Amino acid sequence: MKALVLSGGKGTRLRPLTFTLAKQLIPVANKPILGYVLDQIAETKIKEVGIVIASETGDYVKEYVGDGSKWKFKVTYIPQEPLGLAHAVKTAQKFLADDSFIMCLGDNVTGQGVKALVEKFEKQKLDSLILLKEVDDPSRFGIAQLDKKGNIVKLVEKPKVPMGNLAIIGTYLFSNKVHKAIEQIKPSWRGELEITDAIQEMVNMGFKAKADILNSWWLDTGKKDDILSANARILDEYIKLDVKGETEGSTIEGRVKVDSSSKVVNSTIRGPCIIGKNAKIENSFIGPYTSIGDNSQVTNSNLEYCVLMENVVVKDVERMEDSLIGKNATVTKNLKCGTIKLHVGDYSEVEV
Ligand code: G1P
Repeated sequence: MKALVLSGGKGTRLRPLTFTLAKQLIPVANKPILGYVLDQIAETKIKEVGIVIASETGDYVKEYVGDGSKWKFKVTYIPQEPLGLAHAVKTAQKFLADDSFIMCLGDNVTGQGVKALVEKFEKQKLDSLILLKEVDDPSRFGIAQLDKKGNIVKLVEKPKVPMGNLAIIGTYLFSNKVHKAIEQIKPSWRGELEITDAIQEMVNMGFKAKADILNSWWLDTGKKDDILSANARILDEYIKLDVKGETEGSTIEGRVKVDSSSKVVNSTIRGPCIIGKNAKIENSFIGPYTSIGDNSQVTNSNLEYCVLMENVVVKDVERMEDSLIGKNATVTKNLKCGTIKLHVGDYSEVEV
């Protein structure tokens, strides 16, 4: 069995961050979301992982994942034009050869991992196994209908009139029969070869296609608010009290992680919260669900429910909430004049 991880796409909804970063590398609790996906694959016995990359952001992905030795698997990079998930499988056909495989979206992660799914797929000798989750807005997703035994009956990609609320989330397992199904399908109205159509084709061809309903959380980090809620969820799940850096004159409350190279001076940090390497927090309050990236500095400011990526400076800001700040950005309040002065990149959003 192999794994195929999709890390391409343009990430348009996350501009401007995705001008200099693949969307799968946006940090959640100071670690790229792709890192959590690869960690979960590393819990299985899979040793060969294909990573589908786009020309715009592939180099960033390569820099982070390298040869995969950190996860003890071998990585093959597969460049692809963004023409759909089934197109990605088609592009990866040489890598996949005749093996069955798990396909994961590099910007989606669930709270249950993939090990049990891989075992179920193999034990029941299935041709396809997908994960579903109930959603409130079914027309944004691929939607599945099942019979009582969990066999897939019908699938529709982004239905205008949904026939249910069970959304296909970014984890799919396939036998090599999926390639036959992909040969049969045509691009959808959005010009993409849809994996949803390929699975429907497998059902039509009489192959064994089942679905599991996810009982845990699912994070799809496609938009700013998704990143903030993913950050909150991951901090809640993974952060334990682990304060190694200096905390002179400071109060630490709850589950807070501070790297040994960082300094917290005359401040309050209220968890869950993580402070990366070489960061400095001075005369500030860092509230729950905040991640402070490496080399960032927060001075005379109050932050809550924020993600600061690397090398960010925040100074004299009375209150900052629900904010996602990209690498090397500076946010300061000019204490002398009452006007707002901005130097904001393309596609940024500023609320004052
Ligand atoms: C893709 C799939 C869709 C699935 C979704 C999960 O949609 O086509 O079936 O429900 O991922 O995130 P896309 O992100 O391409 O719109």
